[in-house]
Amino acid sequence: MTDIALTEVRKLSEHVDDEVRILGWVDTTRRHGKVGFVVVRDGTGLVQGVFVKSELPGEVWSILEGVTRESTVALTGLVKEEPRAPGGFEIGVTAFEVIGAAEEYPIQPKEHGVDFLLDHRHLWLRSSLQRAGLRVRAEVEQSVHDFFYERDFVRIDTPILTGAIGEHAGSLFETDYFGVPAFLAQTGQLYVEAACPAFRRVYCFGPTFRAEKSKTRRHLTEFWMVEPEVAFADSAENMRLQEDFITYIVERALTRCSEELKVLERDTTKLEMVRPPFPRLSYTDAVALLQAKGSEIEWGRDLAAPDEDVLMEDHDLPLFVHDYPKGAKAFYMKENPEDPRTALCNDLLAPEGYGEIIGGSQREDDGDKLLARILEEGLPEEAYRWYLDLRRYGTFTHSGFGLGVERTVAWITGRHHIRELIPFPRLMNRLYP
Ligand code: 4AD
Ligand code: MG
Repeated sequence: MTDIALTEVRKLSEHVDDEVRILGWVDTTRRHGKVGFVVVRDGTGLVQGVFVKSELPGEVWSILEGVTRESTVALTGLVKEEPRAPGGFEIGVTAFEVIGAAEEYPIQPKEHGVDFLLDHRHLWLRSSLQRAGLRVRAEVEQSVHDFFYERDFVRIDTPILTGAIGEHAGSLFETDYFGVPAFLAQTGQLYVEAACPAFRRVYCFGPTFRAEKSKTRRHLTEFWMVEPEVAFADSAENMRLQEDFITYIVERALTRCSEELKVLERDTTKLEMVRPPFPRLSYTDAVALLQAKGSEIEWGRDLAAPDEDVLMEDHDLPLFVHDYPKGAKAFYMKENPEDPRTALCNDLLAPEGYGEIIGGSQREDDGDKLLARILEEGLPEEAYRWYLDLRRYGTFTHSGFGLGVERTVAWITGRHHIRELIPFPRLMNRLYP
């Protein structure tokens, strides 16, 4: 017997006219009289196997008749070029074996309710739209690392169990840490700030947690955030880094995930226009604009999602809104010397209804002002002693931002709800699977 190469669908072009073996899962089967078909998904692609009854031992044909969707199978046969087949190849089956028979598969090619699909997320992952979305996510994550690596940033892994509140007291997951309260990290920012004097340019990338009781399409309780922090960068430079960063990751997704974006039926016209500079609008001007459009927003209140949507009506590119009121934002932001009611900060709003994808700021580098803000927010001073040390031992201008991965990937893929862009979403009412 000749050696049959075990290969993968993505490598079939290297095996034209060879006999190969593919391991994968049954997507669909069809039979028309004496010809039958199986589409096998092996995780690298889909390939169709063609069964000709007269050329096969009887038992191979009966396996095809009995095999169920999502059964694990070994498909053996001759690789042929077939321009009409998905992927451009077909396999003329010589042998077929069921390795793990599947029970009746709960997800059928009909419309299921989203709760049903989320209950079956462990299986839903195998569906084509979910595969496409999560591949784009993986490409975006890789491009995040490449962008910062190419620019000489050092990756800093920040703790998930923390003693100091990172953002605000309202949305904390608290746990008992040997008798003292600990919180799941809302952000890695305070720790990348500490690493700045060691490495100048740093970033962290990991899961962050917010006990937000909001059931919107933009909120998860566990989401992934990338947070760069740069020494000697002010707020203006921070925004320039953000627009370069966004341009880089969008362009990477467009070039390397064109197949996935096609599967997702994403109209990429507006994504292709993404390049610096992005328009900039001050919070104060944004409020005036909203009021002119009939909104009842008053100066001082943070922008809510509906406000962001109104602001984005006239924008195809992402929009920076900068210099929000201090009181509407976190304690660590630097007071704006030109208008002390505001902070040197920005949000970046994505077009097409995706809202805030980045929050960033210059950090308060004056130790006294920082302490005053911590006390004003009612935060415990002892928990921030180490953070205040950073202003005592060589303070410096520095800025950074946080980009939410799921919101960004939802925008790039054009999916409505961010829960589809994380493999296992954690939502207010959902801890399984
Ligand atoms: O604006 P946020 O709260 O900023 C920070 O956490 C800063 N410490 C970042 C920094 O300056 N280093 O969150 C940043 C981003 C948001 O713009 C949004 O994209 C995402 O994180 N985000 C969420 N994504 C999904 N679900 C949630 N509940 C989110 N909350 C924030
Ligand atoms: Mg924010």
